[in-house]
Parts: sequence; structure tokens; C-alpha cells
Amino acid sequence: MASVPSLAATVHQRVVDALSAALPEAASADPLLRRSDRADFQANGMLALAKKLKGNPRELAAKVVGAMRESAGAAQNAGAAGDAGNAVIAGIEVSGPGFLNITVSDAAITATLAARAADERLGVPYAAEPGTTVIDYSQPNVAKEMHVGHLRSTVIGDAIVKILEHRGEKVVRRHHIGDWGTQFGMLIQYLEEHPHELDHSGGDGSGEPGGESGEAAMSRLNRLYKDSRALFDSDEEFKARARDRVVKLQSGDERTLETWRRIVGESMIYFHAVYEQLDVEIRDADVVGESAYNDDLQQVVKDLEADGVAVRSEGALCVFFDDVKGPDGKPVPLIVQKSNGGFGYAATDLAAIRDRVGRLGADTLLYVVDARQALHFKMVFETARRAGWLPEGAARQLAFGTVLGKDGKPFKTREGETVRLVDLLGEAVERATAVVREKAEQGGLELTEEEIAERGAQVGIGAVKYADLSTSMSRDYVFDLDRMVSLNGDTSVYLQYAYARIQSILRKAGDARPAAHPELALAPAERALGLHLDEFAETLAGVAETYEPHKLAAYLYQLASHYTTFYDQCPVLKAGDEATVENRLFLCELTARTLRQGMALLGIRTPERL
Ligand code: ARG
Repeated sequence: MASVPSLAATVHQRVVDALSAALPEAASADPLLRRSDRADFQANGMLALAKKLKGNPRELAAKVVGAMRESAGAAQNAGAAGDAGNAVIAGIEVSGPGFLNITVSDAAITATLAARAADERLGVPYAAEPGTTVIDYSQPNVAKEMHVGHLRSTVIGDAIVKILEHRGEKVVRRHHIGDWGTQFGMLIQYLEEHPHELDHSGGDGSGEPGGESGEAAMSRLNRLYKDSRALFDSDEEFKARARDRVVKLQSGDERTLETWRRIVGESMIYFHAVYEQLDVEIRDADVVGESAYNDDLQQVVKDLEADGVAVRSEGALCVFFDDVKGPDGKPVPLIVQKSNGGFGYAATDLAAIRDRVGRLGADTLLYVVDARQALHFKMVFETARRAGWLPEGAARQLAFGTVLGKDGKPFKTREGETVRLVDLLGEAVERATAVVREKAEQGGLELTEEEIAERGAQVGIGAVKYADLSTSMSRDYVFDLDRMVSLNGDTSVYLQYAYARIQSILRKAGDARPAAHPELALAPAERALGLHLDEFAETLAGVAETYEPHKLAAYLYQLASHYTTFYDQCPVLKAGDEATVENRLFLCELTARTLRQGMALLGIRTPERL
């Protein structure tokens, strides 16, 4: 597990050293090194630096070039010509108004990639100082269907968990499910009076999460919800009993809790079935819903009031903010406790913050939640900060945009209802299965029905996840299955086929083994692919720091595109001499491993054959 410095990092260091040798006062300047089409790298930092020092940028750049050549020469005279560091730079020149154009040697590219290939982590380092992150994601609501909003939170959260854990961060997952509140009075009371309502008569009888029983659980809950609602709306006495039931629930009456647990348990069967279909691992111990904080709420209220963070206003306990006002110009408070003594969503979130920072020791709190809840989190974070429970800047909402239908409006069924997640996933898998079947027939790949179904699921679910993760989180996106399962363009299917194609080449290679040959000159497409492969670690570091999985998706798409060009221009098994065949197989294999690792971090499978 050795971290491998990238060529970009090595070149950067060279330029920094040369800069400070040429110009001691520039020792801390950033050379602003970038990948470039003209050379391999370009450094633009001389321009700003020359301006600051009132010098000429071209002259400054020329001095840096001189210093770099000198150090290379000195090293050579000292007999260190073979030193990897010095062999890295193949050419450096001043261009334009004072840019440095830098080319690295083919040998350095291959040698660096060989070092990555020798490491099971592909040379990707762990974070220097990992911390503890508590991430709140995938928080569906009990007794309700999951919809596309829950899809986003689940898929984005799962990717971020994987990306952070890969860096060595300690990650605590929290699924803050909606399992508390007044509607439970109605549901529990109804169930008390109609105890057979949730009986498992239908289903496949296995009691296993997944498949029919998940669907059956949801339809039982739907029925319970509808029937209890109807009674609640038509029968005043039932309504009163339902209200009493909420009080019993919140004060911990054991019998009431038992019925409540039945309802939550039924929902968990359903959630797990959806998670299984989504190929996301959700562990029961991490499901810590709103109810879990019930016992802390009184204390939260007491402390906020004692510290003067919250004040009584019209009977309710409120927190006010200078910059939060309604359309009428009046301040809109965060209500921590309602005038009837009840607690809501805000109180629970405040208690959760105390728990996550105080008990779980989080230094970062993330909330993967719909952007439409931004004001809620802004107020909750600010309240917790005022109360001294949350260090400034420690909490962050990763706010995601809305999923839209093809008409550009929030995704709804034709009847105007929210689209059920299960229906949507089912359709994606169905379409993907058709694509897999057709491609297999065209390519003469003989797959059993079982294999087709398995791959159809991996491709279909991958397509849905990738479409979500490849768009910048805060943006809305259109749910368009035709585009998602397309073989061309920026889709997971394209990436999965690139991976499978490489595996097929590796299988056909027979006795030829992948092996790096740094002595070989590289074709332009090999260099481009190689330099891109070398950027994997830095891409991941950036993605983990800014929580932007779409940048990993973009990297992988570019990787597959570079690979396609390489494949078109550079025959692999028919390359001629043995060394070239081996070196190209080596590039193929490293590309496959990088694709596989990157896709896995997004929660997407890469089948070996497609
Ligand atoms: N259950 C909520 C919903 O479906 C999301 C919960 C978000 N997390 C939180 N800590 N408030 O909208």
C-alpha cells in the first residue's frame, strides 16, 4: 500500500524548486501547473508572479527553464542520470507571454503507471489526517412510499460514504427516517382497533425482505394509511382517540410502542426490498430515526431556553434570525416546540446534532437532503452553533436538486402523483435487460436467461445511479430512461461496455501477459491514456474534499473515451513485437482496474462479460 506520486505532483515540485533556485523571493509562489494539450503540462504562474515582482514574465520563465536544466545536468554529472526524478522531464520551453510548456518522458509515464499497478489501491493515498464524518442520508418515511427524492439521497449518500471510507475517513451513517410525529397516533389507534390489518396474508410467505414481500408490505401499509385516514376525517371520536394515542406514544406507553414497532417493522421490510433492488447496503444499526431522539427533546428545549437561544413567542418556543423573513417582512422563526407542547422536525434535528458531535465525536456533519429543505438546515445549524453544540462550519447540507419529468416539471405520474421508486427501477431494469439481450445476440455472446437478468439489473440500476451521480448534485435533472440506457454518450452502460471489452481482450491474450516496458516509445493515444490514468488519485482526493461525485463520473467517462481512442489507434494483440503487446495489455489492464475501482466507489457494478 504505497502511495504513488503522480507525474503532475513530481513536475509541480520540480518547477517549485527551480523557481526558488532562480528567484529566492518566489519560493512560496504557486506555478499553477495544469494538464495541457500543447505539451503535457503548462505552468501559467510566471505571469502573476512577474507582475507582482514587476519583472518580465518571459524572462522569469526563461530563468526557471535554466534552473531546471541546470539541476538536471548536475544530477547527471553526479551519475544519477537514471534517477526517476530527473528522467521525468523530457522537454521544457517558454511559450506565449511567459508560459512554461513541459513534456514528460515516455519512460516516466510507463514507470509511474507500473508503480500504480503494483499497488492494490492503484497508488491512491489515504488522507493525511482522517477525521470522523457523520453522514445523514437515505431517510425515507415510515408508512409511506419511497420516491425519487429518496433515490437521490440514497445514491448520492452511498457514493459519498464509499469515497470517504476509501480515503480512510471514519464514517458513521445515519438514516434519519421519518418514524415519529402526529400521524402515528392515527395509524396506531387504527391498528389497535383493527389488529388484523397488518396481517401477512399475501406475500410469498417467506418473510424475507426483497421481491414480493416488500411490495406486499407496502400495500398493507397503504391500506392501513388510507383506512385510518378515512376514519380520522369522518369520526370525531376516533380523532380524539388518535390524539390521545400520540401523547401515549411520546410518553413511552409500552403497548403503544409495541404497535408502533409493528408499523416501523413493516416499513423496514419494504425499505430493505427497495435497497436490495437498488444494490445499496443499508445496515439496521445505522437506521436511527427521528424517534431515537425522543428522550432528549425536553433537555434540548430546556437548554435552548436557559441560554436564551430560544424564546417563547405566542406559546411556542422559537429561534429568530435577522436574515430569515417571510414575504410580509415578518421574521420567520425556527419552531423548536409548538404551543401545545409538541415537538417537530427541528427539535429532533437539534437533538441529533448534539448526539453526533457530542457522543459520536463527529468533526464533520453531512446531510444529503433535498435543496428544498435548505432553509430548515440553515436555521437548525445556526441554532446549534449559537447553543455551542456545533463548531462553526462543521455541518453542511449536501443539497440536491429535483428530479424532473421530460416536460421539465417535477417528476409525476400522468395522474399527478409522485412516481413510486420501485416502478421506476423496475422499468430501468426492464429496458437495460432488453439492451443486454440485443447486444449479446449481435455479438454472438451466449448468455443464459439468468445471466441476462443479472446483467440487466446491474446495467439498469447502474444507469439510474450514474445519471444521478454524473450531474452536479445541486442541479435538477430530467429522468430520461432512453438516454440513461444508451450505449453511446456519458452513460454507465458505455463505461460498463468499455470495461467488459477490456476483459474480453485480456481473456483472448492467451500466453501474453500484461507487463510494463518503460523502454518503449509511446504512441500519442497511449500517452494521453497513460497521463489520464495517472490522475486518478488526485481526482479522488478532490472529489472527497468537495463532495462532488460528478467529478469522479466525469473522470471515468474521459478515461473510457481515452481508452476508446487508444483502442482504435493502437492494436493490442496484433501489435507485432512482444514487448509492445505486453505494454498495451498492461495499459488495458490498468484502465480496467481504474474503471472498476472508480465505478465501485459510485456504487455501480462492472460485469466481466456483457
Ligand atoms: N425524512 C425526510 C424526508 O423524507 C428527510 C430527513 C432528512 N434528514 C434530517 N436529518 N432532517 O423529507
